[in-house]
Amino acid sequence: MSTDLMPIQGYDYIEYYVGNARQAAYYYGKAFGFSVVAYAGPETGVRDRVSYVLQQNDIRWVITGATRAESDIARHQYFHSDGIKDVAFTVPNAEEAFRLAIGRGAKPVREPEVEEDEHGKLVFASIAAYGETIHTFVDRSNYSGPFAPGFVEKHDWNVNESTGLSYIDHIVCNVELGKMDAWAKYYADIMGFTQLHHFDDEAISTEYTALMSKVLWDGEGRIKLPINEPAEGKKISQIEEYLDFYKGAGVQHIAIATDDIVATVSDLRDRDIKFLAVPDKYYDDLRDRLDWSTIDADIDQLANLGVLVDQDDEGYLLQIFTSPMQDRPTIFYEVIDRHGSRGFGVGNFQALFEAIEREQEARGNL
Ligand code: FE2
Repeated sequence: MSTDLMPIQGYDYIEYYVGNARQAAYYYGKAFGFSVVAYAGPETGVRDRVSYVLQQNDIRWVITGATRAESDIARHQYFHSDGIKDVAFTVPNAEEAFRLAIGRGAKPVREPEVEEDEHGKLVFASIAAYGETIHTFVDRSNYSGPFAPGFVEKHDWNVNESTGLSYIDHIVCNVELGKMDAWAKYYADIMGFTQLHHFDDEAISTEYTALMSKVLWDGEGRIKLPINEPAEGKKISQIEEYLDFYKGAGVQHIAIATDDIVATVSDLRDRDIKFLAVPDKYYDDLRDRLDWSTIDADIDQLANLGVLVDQDDEGYLLQIFTSPMQDRPTIFYEVIDRHGSRGFGVGNFQALFEAIEREQEARGNL
C-alpha cells in the first residue's frame, strides 16, 4: 500500500503566525487549557521571532510572532490575520518523506535540514500545501529536547489545568472554488491518502449557501483532512466569507477530541469560550430523529451546553463548534467526542450552517 512509503506517525505540531505571540499564547492557554512548555526568542538566540510551545495531552501548538516589521511572519499576519502556517507531521525519516513528496509533485519549501544541540539532532523538511500553508516533516527520533534547537524548556508562566482536550481528530481546510478535487488528488498522490467521505452540495446546503467537501485520510485514522470548496448558492457561503477574509485557502477548523464532552464544554464555557448557538428546535427534532436507546447522554444536558449529536451505523458522536477565534471570521474550533461513529456529523450540517449564517448575517457578510 502506498501509505507505507510515507508513514506519517501523527501530527507533530500546528504552528500559528500571530500578531502578538505572548498574548495569543496567554489566551489559548487560559481559554483552552494548554500550558506553555517551551520558548524560543531573542533570549535563546532566535532574533527574528518569538515562539511559545503550548501542550495539552497529545496536542502541540507553536504560537509564533515576529520581532521585526520586515519579517515574513509579520507580512503573513498582516495579510491573513492570525492564522495557521504549518501543519507538521512526525515521520521516521524526514529526508526520505521530502524526497518522495517532491518526486510525486509536491512543491519544496524547505530542503531537509538537520538542527543540532546538546539534546541531539532533529531533521526538518517542508512542502507547500493549500494557500500559504505548509506541511513540515519532522524526524525527532534522535532528539530529546523540549521541542527543537533554539527552544528552552519553560514551565514558569501560563501553566493551566487541562480542559480534557486530548488529541487532534481532524483538520479542515477551505480551498478556492473548483480546487477541491485538485487538493484531494494532491493528498492522494503525495501522501498516499484515500477518500473516506464525499459530501456534495445537495447534502450540505441551506436555503442560501452550499459547499462541497471531500475527506482524505491516511487509512488508519491518525490523520483526517476534510477539504471544503464553496458551491453555488443564493448568497455568500461561509467558505467564500472565509476565503475573502483569510485572502485565500487555509485551515478552517481544527477538531479536537475529548472523551467527556460535557465536562470539557462546561469547562470551556466557564472560561468564556463562545460557541455557535443552536435553536431549541434542533433538540426537539433530535428526540425523534435519533435512537436514544444506544446513546449514553442526557439530551437536556446536551441542549443546555449546545452540544450536537449525530448517529450512524457504527455509533454516534457528540460535537460542538466555537465562533471564529480572531477578529476576522476565519479559524474556529470543534470539540468532538466519538462513540463508534467515524463520521463528521452530516446530520448536523443543516442546523450548523444555519447557525453559522445567523452569525454571518450579524457580521453583514451573508
Ligand atoms: Fe469538523
